Amino acid sequence: MKNLLLLTALAFMTTTLSQTVTAQTPKDPQDSQVNIKRLVSQLTLEEKASLLSGRDDWSTQSIERLAIPWIWLSDGPHGLRRAPQTNKPGYGDQLPATAYPTASALAASWDLDLIYQVGQSLGEESQAQDVNVLLGPGINIKRSVLGGRNFEFFSEDPVLSGELGAAYINGVQSQGVGTSLKHYAANNVETRRMYMNSGMDDRTLHEIYLTPFEIAVRKAQPWTIMASYNRIQGVYGTQSPYLLTDVLKKQWGYQGIVISDWFAVVDPVAAVKAGMHIEMPGLNTVNDNLIIDAVKSGELDEALIDRMVTDILTIVFKAKSLEKQGVELDVEKHHNHARRVAAESITLLKNQNNVLPVNPQKYQEVAIIGEFAVNPRFQGNGSSEVKPTRLDQFLELVKREYGEQINFSYAQGYQLSNDNDFSLIDEAKEVAVSADIALVFAGLPLHYESEGIDRTHIDMPASHNRLISEIAKVQKNTVAVLTNGSAVTMPWVNEVNGILETWLAGQAGAGGIADVIFGKVNPSGKLAETFPVKLEDTPAFFNFPGEQGEVLYGEQIFVGYRYYDKKKIEPLFPFGFGLSYTDFEYSELAFSATSITDKTGLDVTVKITNSGDVAGKEVVQLYVTDVHSSLQRPKKELKKFSKIALEPGQAKTVTFQLDSRDFSYYDAIRKMWIAESGEFVVSAASSSLDIRLSQSVMLQSTQQVPLAFDEYTFFKDYWNNRQTRELLKQLVPNWIKGFTPEGKSADDAEFQDFMVEHPFIKYPYITNGEISPTQVKELVKKSQGMTYTP
Ligand code: BGC
Repeated sequence: MKNLLLLTALAFMTTTLSQTVTAQTPKDPQDSQVNIKRLVSQLTLEEKASLLSGRDDWSTQSIERLAIPWIWLSDGPHGLRRAPQTNKPGYGDQLPATAYPTASALAASWDLDLIYQVGQSLGEESQAQDVNVLLGPGINIKRSVLGGRNFEFFSEDPVLSGELGAAYINGVQSQGVGTSLKHYAANNVETRRMYMNSGMDDRTLHEIYLTPFEIAVRKAQPWTIMASYNRIQGVYGTQSPYLLTDVLKKQWGYQGIVISDWFAVVDPVAAVKAGMHIEMPGLNTVNDNLIIDAVKSGELDEALIDRMVTDILTIVFKAKSLEKQGVELDVEKHHNHARRVAAESITLLKNQNNVLPVNPQKYQEVAIIGEFAVNPRFQGNGSSEVKPTRLDQFLELVKREYGEQINFSYAQGYQLSNDNDFSLIDEAKEVAVSADIALVFAGLPLHYESEGIDRTHIDMPASHNRLISEIAKVQKNTVAVLTNGSAVTMPWVNEVNGILETWLAGQAGAGGIADVIFGKVNPSGKLAETFPVKLEDTPAFFNFPGEQGEVLYGEQIFVGYRYYDKKKIEPLFPFGFGLSYTDFEYSELAFSATSITDKTGLDVTVKITNSGDVAGKEVVQLYVTDVHSSLQRPKKELKKFSKIALEPGQAKTVTFQLDSRDFSYYDAIRKMWIAESGEFVVSAASSSLDIRLSQSVMLQSTQQVPLAFDEYTFFKDYWNNRQTRELLKQLVPNWIKGFTPEGKSADDAEFQDFMVEHPFIKYPYITNGEISPTQVKELVKKSQGMTYTP
């Protein structure tokens, strides 16, 4: 079908329109631009306006007269949710596709190659199902543990989120399929998501919420970016000239197109002006007409429409030219791949007395308890819901794979339909007591985590918690095997010997879980989000989900581990934490220099040795601390990471390159990243609370930073700055003299604090007219253009 349409389109373009446009999809990008330019010049205003919204639920507009084809956009992100046709919503009737582990699981792998491969596989599936753009990845920061879509997002950390996002995008796009990086920006709450204003200061916006998008855009250039529902600093994501044009296009050099989240557009004219290309979905022409009227009335410049249409056609023709024919969905291969991915993501949180792995020499009778073992929860609720090609069940799978060596018994333990029914616990205890080990499958039922709804607490159902505690009373080898998309509390943490976080592990999750439990795969997942002891400990506790349309990002840059570090709050399990069946030693932390400038950067090497007796993988994390900063900074921030595989006894040296951005903060007044001179500590760590080696480096900045003084800058700041002090000395010598001890120079003036701690504009009054309003203006004017080295 797809091929036929494209061929018809291309034939139509080359024959019917030969006088007007050479419409083969050209190989040379320059030719392609010329052709697109010609095409745009052929379009009527009405046709151009129609291209600024979708054709229906899942496709872009086509213009048959000019053989402009449409392309297919489809959810994502961790499996394809393709509707049978572009004009069907595709909930329930979607085509089967491989359901990979969801983003929170993928992130726990910390494995860029793995995520790239997942992207490749999703790209292949998209090609097989005629989809041109996969709507993902979702890289919004997990600001609150209550966020309803946390299972769909990667991390609380901007660098980790951005790097994983870039790997995913590069993987998908390597297959000739585009992505949609979403949801731009600061879309971290589901409550009233169509209107909620994410209220925050500029520094927080840039350092925490924009950085992941910046990394993904710069490293992967997603074909599309999805503008979010919410407002950011008072402006809708779809209507923000600052975010869509100034930051995205001008600062980061974004080359693709911006599409709206579904039904996100409020004012289509404002959206186009801001830099948004396509409103999705496109169900009628109401908004097209508003755009046409705005052009006719002169409110909207048609040249802008032409530029937007040019961008759109560039992506459309690129997508069409990269379509592959005859790609088949390889169900078996992708299912097995999804199993490997699940195993790589699983995070071992506790393994007292080496209760895991299970092997037949140690345990002959294994009790499997909990309905999730037969009725797995493998994904989250909402637009990312995939219809799996298959679905493995743990109990069935382990009986098949290990049934000859091990006896398995099973008890349901709880009912997924009733959180407070404890009637199945006694039976489960009987099963557990007669076994050598009990694996208790528990976690969050489907309705606990969903797009569109935030959580109100982070507890598992009472029946699951009670079950784990009761089993632990009768079975010393109790392992909680958790299924949940985001953080939960664990009141029984000290009662069990093992805790295995399996996330929402996708359709082949059961196999991945079995591989880890039975030791075929050594667990290597690490938390990409902090697990708190209790909700009250979390950074956004007072400001989530917001009220009266406003959510205040009151914790500012102190999100996730940045907050727990600063407040010295011990989490249940820290960011970056995850155990292995082996041990890793860190040694020989070395720097390329002891002092650097912002231009030279720093190479850091560290040696990691597998000191245990099984092969394993370690995620090495590099954190940077600014020892003295003029602004508040987190105790440390993740800047680099690397996942390495090591055989027993093997050692590898990992190299990281830090550049000035890794030492910088975002200065909201000067609107720039600043790396201040001074001491920085660089630490190699196995988790955010397990720093293995640290070393200092001195940074000497060469940046020339605008002074940015104005009439509201305090007198003290003018006085403390060498250059502006000279101006003051010239401007108001007599006033300064009044504070200078006899025989001393002006530089020795002794001002009492209350004299100098005022904005400069108040000094005509404070000096009883000695400093005049004109002199205030003069000083401000003279200080403009002055710079300093931070
Ligand atoms: C979600 C997006 C999704 C889109 C299309 C929206 O409600 O926020 O993530 O891609 O629907 O289903």
